[in-house]
Amino acid sequence: MRRYQLAAAGEGFALELRQGPTPEPGPGQVRVRVRACSLNYRDLLVRQGRYGRRTEGLVPLSDGAGEVEAIGPGVQRVKPGDRVAGCFFQGWPQGPFTAPVMDTALGGARDGMLAEQVVLEEGGVILLPPHLDWAEGACLPCAGLTAWNALVTRGGLQPGATVLLQGTGGVSIFALQFAVALDARVILLSGSDAKLERGRALGAAQTINYRTIPDWEQEVWRLIEKRGVDHIVEVGGNLEKSLRCLAPGGHIAQVGVLGGGSGAANLFPLAMKNARLDGIYVGSRAHFEVMIRFLTERQLHPVIDRTFPFAQATEAYDHLASGSHFGKVVIEI
Ligand SMILES: NC(=O)c1ccc[n+]([C@@H]2O[C@H](COP(=O)([O-])OP(=O)(O)OC[C@H]3O[C@@H](n4cnc5c(N)ncnc54)[C@H](OP(=O)(O)O)[C@@H]3O)[C@@H](O)[C@H]2O)c1
Repeated sequence: MRRYQLAAAGEGFALELRQGPTPEPGPGQVRVRVRACSLNYRDLLVRQGRYGRRTEGLVPLSDGAGEVEAIGPGVQRVKPGDRVAGCFFQGWPQGPFTAPVMDTALGGARDGMLAEQVVLEEGGVILLPPHLDWAEGACLPCAGLTAWNALVTRGGLQPGATVLLQGTGGVSIFALQFAVALDARVILLSGSDAKLERGRALGAAQTINYRTIPDWEQEVWRLIEKRGVDHIVEVGGNLEKSLRCLAPGGHIAQVGVLGGGSGAANLFPLAMKNARLDGIYVGSRAHFEVMIRFLTERQLHPVIDRTFPFAQATEAYDHLASGSHFGKVVIEI
């Protein structure tokens, strides 16, 4: 069984392909033959040793899909042959988020999915719908679920609402698909006009290039007729700007800080607008199940930018790091 592990080397952590024994599932565990993995921005941080967890020796990547190959004693939820994706948090089936859940994150606290075979918790896998292939299934656990919880579970997105999305990476493109499917009006930001055009083809109503229009929050305000947007999925670390263009009673889902940090934002407008600010950290299996039902009802397919073979995992990382992608980057195994 081959797996990638992060090895300390130079400034970053090199990806090393190593041979290991076939892992055996213990009680309540399953062995999955991994068919595809997807990358998230987090995986770049982990590889740079900037995620605050064990790095050397770690099998990276939280997101993967494959088929159940063997089950341990007492397993009842799945059986050999089932098509599954791993849950980002192996120990968050449902209910409130607690501190111990954090110690169950794949590709961070625990070994991840970039291997030919992995052992997961019985309660840490979810059945894939038939309309998704392995690569598409591998896109769901982190980016898909984060976007879903940001807009729907926590945001309570309603038809006709306005949504501001930042960039065209994994989370934002999932959020675009969900928002459009729910009849919301999306304003999409990107640093690339070509990507904005692709965003319009997916249903974005209006687009702004944040490089050519650095004061994009003013443009958002103008486009929404001085009312502001109802929902913002904040991935850029732009909280202060986001607060300025948020509608009274609006909702910000704080997801990421791509720009390097949220800085010292003036939170006064949050109170003055009676707004909601929610921190989002992926989601539970129960959230995942609801999202899968929605994807199935609407027959939605994740947007995959590019797929790399297992032997080119390093190239896949480099591609994500280049920022040239639109949607998800996948490694097929
Ligand atoms: N809290 C959570 O549970 C959670 C889960 C998933 C992701 N995240 C975080 O969310 C962020 C996005 O993750 P991802 O995996 O979707 O990333 P990704 O696929 O690597 O997407 C990055 C894209 O965002 C855009 N971007 C870059 N800098 C930006 C900025 N300063 N402002 C606005 N957009 C910017 C760029 O798109 P354009 O080229 O179109 O401009 C870039 O290609 C990361 O910070 C990640 O750590 C958090």
